[in-house]
Amino acid sequence: MGSRYEHVFAPIRIRGVDFRNRIELAPPSLNLASLDHKVTHEFVDLNRSIAYGGAAILSVGNVMVDIEECCNEELQLDMSTDECILPLSWFSQMCEGFGAHASLEINPAARTLSLPAPVTLPTLPPSITPPGSSLTPRPRVVSLLRPSK
Ligand SMILES: Cc1cc2nc3c(=O)[nH]c(=O)nc-3n(C[C@H](O)[C@H](O)[C@H](O)COP(=O)(O)O)c2cc1C
Repeated sequence: MGSRYEHVFAPIRIRGVDFRNRIELAPPSLNLASLDHKVTHEFVDLNRSIAYGGAAILSVGNVMVDIEECCNEELQLDMSTDECILPLSWFSQMCEGFGAHASLEINPAARTLSLPAPVTLPTLPPSITPPGSSLTPRPRVVSLLRPSK
């Protein structure tokens, strides 16, 4: 490859997982889930056209883990119940067919983005919340919010 990024198309193994190259789709929230927030055939079909492009990882944005706290789009995915598993397998198996990995970006608490009152809670991304802590993970962006006048 005629650039400084000579490894982009080279396979790599990370912690026992093989990746066909170093390319990951930045996670869009496609808003193509069903009304009960499951993977649809339309969702898989659109991602199939992206997988055909050759990325090693297909990421999906804004996936809920708690429908009460995280829902901020009408047709975003929900992975908080076992009912999501079968429809998600349509997506992951499609990715596998192209030698790619499926990846989900978890949205921990998007509902807080629309809180009407000033937000005074300490903000913590979930990745640094200590195990067993009673602190509620909050997205960092909350600390930037101000109520509209
Ligand atoms: C329609 C749309 C939805 C997106 N949804 C998310 C999302 O849910 N989470 C996220 O981290 N980024 C999201 N993004 C941002 C993309 O992941 C990406 O960072 C951005 O589009 C810049 O990449 P690009 O220049 O290749 O478009 C979204 C972008 C678009 C266009």
